[in-house]
Amino acid sequence: MSQDAQGRMSRRQFVASAATVAAATSAFPYFARGALADKTLRIGLIGSGGRGTGAVRDAYNADSNVKLVAMSDMYPDRIEASAERLKEIVELDARYRFAGADGYKKVLEQEPDYVILATPPNYRPEHFAACIEAGAHVFMEKPIAVDPVGTRAIMEAGEKAKAKRLSVVAGTQRRHSNVYRETIRRIHDGAIGKVLSACCYWNQGQLWYRERQPDWSEEEWMHRDWVNWCWLSGDHVVEQHIHNVDVVNWVLGTRPEKVLAMGGRMRRVTGDQYDFFSSDFTYPDGIHVISQCRQIHGCTNSVSEYVLGDKGHANPGGFISTIGQIEVENPSPMVQEHKHLIEAIRNDQPINETQNVAESTLCCIMARTSAYTGKEVTWDEMMQSDLVIAKPDYELTPENIRARIPVPGEERA
Ligand SMILES: NC(=O)c1ccc[n+]([C@@H]2O[C@H](COP(=O)([O-])OP(=O)(O)OC[C@H]3O[C@@H](n4cnc5c(N)ncnc54)[C@H](O)[C@@H]3O)[C@@H](O)[C@H]2O)c1
Repeated sequence: MSQDAQGRMSRRQFVASAATVAAATSAFPYFARGALADKTLRIGLIGSGGRGTGAVRDAYNADSNVKLVAMSDMYPDRIEASAERLKEIVELDARYRFAGADGYKKVLEQEPDYVILATPPNYRPEHFAACIEAGAHVFMEKPIAVDPVGTRAIMEAGEKAKAKRLSVVAGTQRRHSNVYRETIRRIHDGAIGKVLSACCYWNQGQLWYRERQPDWSEEEWMHRDWVNWCWLSGDHVVEQHIHNVDVVNWVLGTRPEKVLAMGGRMRRVTGDQYDFFSSDFTYPDGIHVISQCRQIHGCTNSVSEYVLGDKGHANPGGFISTIGQIEVENPSPMVQEHKHLIEAIRNDQPINETQNVAESTLCCIMARTSAYTGKEVTWDEMMQSDLVIAKPDYELTPENIRARIPVPGEERA
């Protein structure tokens, strides 16, 4: 099987090779490895900021036979900074570095085997659908959208991925942590009895922000300051707290029916988001889950989860009251998630985490909507909602921004 200088096998060759493997598999049932078993896996990166660059490193740490073949980012300086940080493990030719909003299409033209999606989450639905259409496996960072319309688009593309036998792993890395897996396995085995309720927290200090620079357009400012703008990040209850809500959904094996949340803004410097949220989710069987997230300096911090059962309690991150500390070898979950994806690709045994991460994203969007409006919000309402968080269509003066920050009870989502 020939490959070009970048290790690329044409789609036609790949299909022929997959057919050969399928024939071999049916003749020799013990032969389970896929067509990509020993091939150099070609990686494309879309969004070459902090996490995207880190994820490429994680992939190289997960497998000795991978190669970054293309990267894109909205801004050339982010691409150059990423290439510089990666150069000790891979030198990416300048011809394969694509700047601009359409750069992701050029990445896909290089026919990567898998693509890392690490832009702000509002772009995930568009990029994920394009990857699945192109037949690429995907590692996508959480969250996967900022509104219900985007979330449902992701769910739909996730089903297409299944039909195409493509693997999808999400950046909810606790699901790839041995200590979380083992603790939750024991909770599911009854170590704390019947689960009665849970709590989860992402309380930390102020997050980073960027003041506007004279040579930046409003759009560039928002992109470079994206963690503070709801249309780009979904607000921090979505962007960060999804990790903890995802753990609770995993423990309970389901998602909430409704939520009543509250929140507010007191300290933020830029953007249009809140500083804190507190949510009361109702799950099936009347189980309540209390969640908090805050980004304010000088307060008590915690990034954790807590589960109460009728025989004990647990921190899914490694403690069960009836057992003690859960001690297992725990290699970096951020490397493990690439290891699991690569194994799935090489063994042709697809894994697909789309639905889990989409549901957890939607739970957080549900909490944000409840806090912004002051109203209870149900899962069914979210699944039918046509809410799209659009780019601000007003001049970004401090007065205009302040006037748009949601006030509970005022019917603005
Ligand atoms: N799993 C985790 O623990 C974890 C940790 C950090 C970040 N993240 C997630 O990773 C994603 C990226 O976060 P980050 O910390 O790397 O942010 P970042 O700002 O460092 O990087 C994001 C990059 O995307 C680029 N970008 C913006 N719009 C783009 C577009 N349309 N096309 C191409 N590039 C575009 C930006 O220019 C920037 O370089 C977010 O979804 C974030 O929530 C996950």
